[in-house]
Amino acid sequence: MKKHGKERLIEKKVFITGGASGIGRAICTLFAQEGAQVFIADIDTNGGLETTRLITKRDGVANFQKTDVSNPQSVLESIQAANDKMGGIDILVNDAAAFVFGTVEQTSPEDWERVFGVNVLGTVHTVKEALPYLRDSLSPAIVNIASVSSFIAQPAFIPYNTSKGALLQLTRCLAMDLADDGIRVNCVCPGSIYTPATERHIAFEKANKEDFLREAGEGSFLKRVGKPEEVAYAALFLASEEASFITGTQLVVDGGATV
Ligand SMILES: NC(=O)c1ccc[n+]([C@@H]2O[C@H](COP(=O)([O-])OP(=O)(O)OC[C@H]3O[C@@H](n4cnc5c(N)ncnc54)[C@H](O)[C@@H]3O)[C@@H](O)[C@H]2O)c1
Repeated sequence: MKKHGKERLIEKKVFITGGASGIGRAICTLFAQEGAQVFIADIDTNGGLETTRLITKRDGVANFQKTDVSNPQSVLESIQAANDKMGGIDILVNDAAAFVFGTVEQTSPEDWERVFGVNVLGTVHTVKEALPYLRDSLSPAIVNIASVSSFIAQPAFIPYNTSKGALLQLTRCLAMDLADDGIRVNCVCPGSIYTPATERHIAFEKANKEDFLREAGEGSFLKRVGKPEEVAYAALFLASEEASFITGTQLVVDGGATV
């Protein structure tokens, strides 16, 4: 792939969930640009193939397999396929998410099962199945895409925020348990980032796009929403050997919104 950066992930083998869209796609393209081979696991086949095309047309290496991260068998098959394609896994990025909002009274048990099934158990499944390969890596790292919603309250966001809080705690506990294996585990906590998920939220709220984005950005010091690439660079740092003494932490990328 045409190189612009320092090739910070040269020859690294990356398994990433949620790479078909938004922040996950930005992580895939940046990591490939930095020399990584990327295996994309996402439930969205069209989006996953498009991310693959974006990378391979610039001479990068990417593969896609349709995967439902909430299904342990689907995750097992994708991890095995990734190992078959790449000959190992050095870096695991958990980006896939279900966006389930509402108050306690507005949400059903199925809503809670879905949001925890993807946002929390999805990460548990990928970590469990990737562990044998990560243990064989010389510089293994896990990067979870959590959220500022992991540690702040927002109105009528209970299922999503509770799941992202659990993902932050999962990150810390994994960092402790996997330290003896040399596996670093960290998370990125984005604030408001403009992605297809934002577009769906604007449509759901029947909001005016410009007004929505201005209001979403106003709460930050930098007075704007973020770009997927700005989250991808944080994930790149945590995944790279530049972060070799960093584990169990969260890197907030929110323009100062939660300071
Ligand atoms: N956009 C934001 O403002 C924002 C803020 C904070 C955190 N985040 C987090 O960043 C991550 C990416 O969000 P985004 O805004 O790019 O969203 P997005 O909707 O653009 O991308 C999410 C991806 O997850 C995939 N996915 C959903 N369910 C899946 C499943 N069961 N199995 C496999 N893949 C599945 C989707 O197909 C999609 O490709 C998420 O973890 C999200 O919680 C986003």
